[in-house]
Amino acid sequence: MTSPANHLPSPVHTALQEGILVVRIDNPPVNALSAAVRAGLLAAVQQAQTDASVRAVLLVGVGRAFIAGADIREFGKPPQEPLLPGVCNQIEALDKPVVASINGPALGGGLEVAMAAHYRVATPHSKLGLPEVTLGLLPGAGGTQRAPRLMGAMAAAELMLSGKHLSADAAHKAGLLDAVASGADAVDNGLAFVRDLLARNAPVRRTRDQAISDAATAPAALDQLAADTAARNKGLFSPAKIIECVRAALRLPFDEGLAFERARFVECLDSPQRAGLIHAFFAEREVAKIPEASAAQPRPLQTIGVIGGGTMGAGITVAALDAGLQVTMVERDADSIARGRTNVEKVYNSLVERQRMTAQAREAVLARLTLSTDYADLKDVDLVIEAVFEDLGVKKEVFAQLDRICKSGAVLATNTSYLDIDAIAAVTRRPSDVIGLHFFSPANIMRLLEIVVAERTSAEVVATAFELARKMKKVPVRAGVCDGFIGNRILATYRQAADYLMEDGASPYDIDKAVRDFGYPMGPYQMMDLAGGDIGWATRKRKALTRDPKARYVEISDRICERGWFGQKTGRGYYVYAQGVRGGQPDPEVAQIVDAERARKGVTPRAFSADDIMRRNMAAMVNEGAKVLDEGVALRPLDIDATFIFGYGFPRWRGGPMFWADAYGLPNVLADIEAFAKEDALFWQPAPLLQKLVAEGRGFASLNTLK
Ligand code: 3HC
Ligand code: NAI
Repeated sequence: MTSPANHLPSPVHTALQEGILVVRIDNPPVNALSAAVRAGLLAAVQQAQTDASVRAVLLVGVGRAFIAGADIREFGKPPQEPLLPGVCNQIEALDKPVVASINGPALGGGLEVAMAAHYRVATPHSKLGLPEVTLGLLPGAGGTQRAPRLMGAMAAAELMLSGKHLSADAAHKAGLLDAVASGADAVDNGLAFVRDLLARNAPVRRTRDQAISDAATAPAALDQLAADTAARNKGLFSPAKIIECVRAALRLPFDEGLAFERARFVECLDSPQRAGLIHAFFAEREVAKIPEASAAQPRPLQTIGVIGGGTMGAGITVAALDAGLQVTMVERDADSIARGRTNVEKVYNSLVERQRMTAQAREAVLARLTLSTDYADLKDVDLVIEAVFEDLGVKKEVFAQLDRICKSGAVLATNTSYLDIDAIAAVTRRPSDVIGLHFFSPANIMRLLEIVVAERTSAEVVATAFELARKMKKVPVRAGVCDGFIGNRILATYRQAADYLMEDGASPYDIDKAVRDFGYPMGPYQMMDLAGGDIGWATRKRKALTRDPKARYVEISDRICERGWFGQKTGRGYYVYAQGVRGGQPDPEVAQIVDAERARKGVTPRAFSADDIMRRNMAAMVNEGAKVLDEGVALRPLDIDATFIFGYGFPRWRGGPMFWADAYGLPNVLADIEAFAKEDALFWQPAPLLQKLVAEGRGFASLNTLK
């Protein structure tokens, strides 16, 4: 069979076996429903309809998936016939039994195809879900109408709102599957199932004809769910539409429900959130495509050393244990290693307390952890991650020791936030084995891992670091050496812009609120209170000598730190924190400090709207981002986007700062920067790359493919 769209062989093959038309979907890597697959499915349905020797149809996916859903790359392009809702309707309308035999992921449109079939069976490791919400969409091929009929309206709504993947067992219990097969082969499982249906003369059983089991109670329960959803998904467009579609399933005849769903789906498809979320989906995967991937193979990676058992060392240890690795943690002395052990155990104890892990599993994980105060115990590890104090002298001493002790070929990594990794590498006789692995706190939870490639780091070491990220399920972003790498460098500029706004008239609370309303979980001053004001204070003191004397410097944070107000840990920072109360309250004394600093500098406060605040914040980020790109510190704009989405709470649905900039328009960003430069030309120097792109009428997206 050939695909009519492009005359290539069709990715859907059919074969008649014992009167059963076996339809194989073969579109690697995950059998996404491209136009050619949709056309192939439709042709198979027509074949089944017209060929009298076909008694039943079996749908299977070739390879590691049943069907991972619509082809996400087609969204945003003109739709191509046949559309998936029509294909699903044709499958369901067949008057011969259709069975979907699922192996691996059946997601989004993939599950919608399966729900349009008359029966469903799956291998135990299959995953079923309707994750469209994570892409700013809703199931648009009948999923919002068929899922309620199979599993009940509330369960379907919750599945679609969460975007979660169900295990085969859970999907079976929920009513999505007729059976979980014991075998691993989808064709064998499916054929056995169909033979049994035929032997029993089982009828065609269309989902559209089934009653919704909780039709009586669901409307009231949906009101509550709608209220919870609105509170939980602030700013998100598609969750409320999903609930509207479930209400339609309860209220309308099936075909009208489908039409209602289609209209809501198109609204989602056209929303900027869909574009942002799909950019984030691909950015998460594209970041792993680096020049070194094709140039070198990773080194073996089974045993890891971690130096330091503080906040980061303990988090990294947990991340490595969770990845199945053997870990040796080294600390300075007996007290410190005991603290390190407690820090690690706390994480697993909490999981056991919350019944997310058994005590037995905890012991099995902890059995892979060795604790030591002797660096010599690191002699056989494949990779070491140093997470000691942020002090160049201390780090250099540690690396000199590692150079003496570690086996040849061991990767030597530092978790430094800002320090010069070339300088750290230079104390060793093997600088090509040294690399930065910048984790984010809490290191076992945050998905971002900045992989900082120093001047002499070898391609093999870079490939090994990416392999570690893969094992840890992190989002790895390749960065170059500079003060703060990609993330902290851009963050520092954005914080500076926030400080200028504060001194010029916006309160820290107005700034935090504007940033939260933009979609971040918290604002910069809340963040500072959470991380501890003393950390930033130490950095500012360290940099005081090298700061450009002409650069504007806002001292408000210093005034606050001088009072010993370091944020949550001292009960007071930009906010006051009452014992037992969640979150902080604005502090009138902080307002007085801000006023006093303005008066001292002779600043007459001005009013700033939330829009003014965000335009300055974003212009500062994007401008610094362009400089980071130009210097080659980040490979592509999408690497900056992934850094902020996965490491700094940038709203995913906005696609990241560089994606945002393209949507806002680069000429607009540049015009803002030029307007702000009239107040402070030193800080607001437009990045040459930004000027170049504007002059050429291009966006950052044009730089997203590797040369
Ligand atoms: N469309 C196009 N490409 C897809 C895709 C899709 N639906 N799903 C995955 N891919 C691509 C990935 O981009 C990646 O490409 P690359 O190798 O060039 O980077 C490749 O397939 C492999 O993907 P992963 O690296 O993610 O592989 P994993 O094995 O880790 O995960 C998966 C497999 C669980 C299927 C995961 O890819 C996934 O979650 N995919 C998206 C599922 C989804 O969201 N489906 C809903 C789509 S919207 C829809 O169906 C609308 C409908 O209602 C009308
Ligand atoms: P921390 O103060 O919580 O822990 C540091 C640990 O290192 C202490 O337990 C100390 O006993 C130990 N240590 C010091 N010198 C040592 C030596 N010579 N040998 C063995 N152990 C030694 O500090 P934290 O926050 O864990 O930071 C560690 C590193 O991680 C720093 O470089 C920091 O910049 C970086 N980092 C911190 C982040 C954070 O949010 N805290 C985020 C990302 C990176």
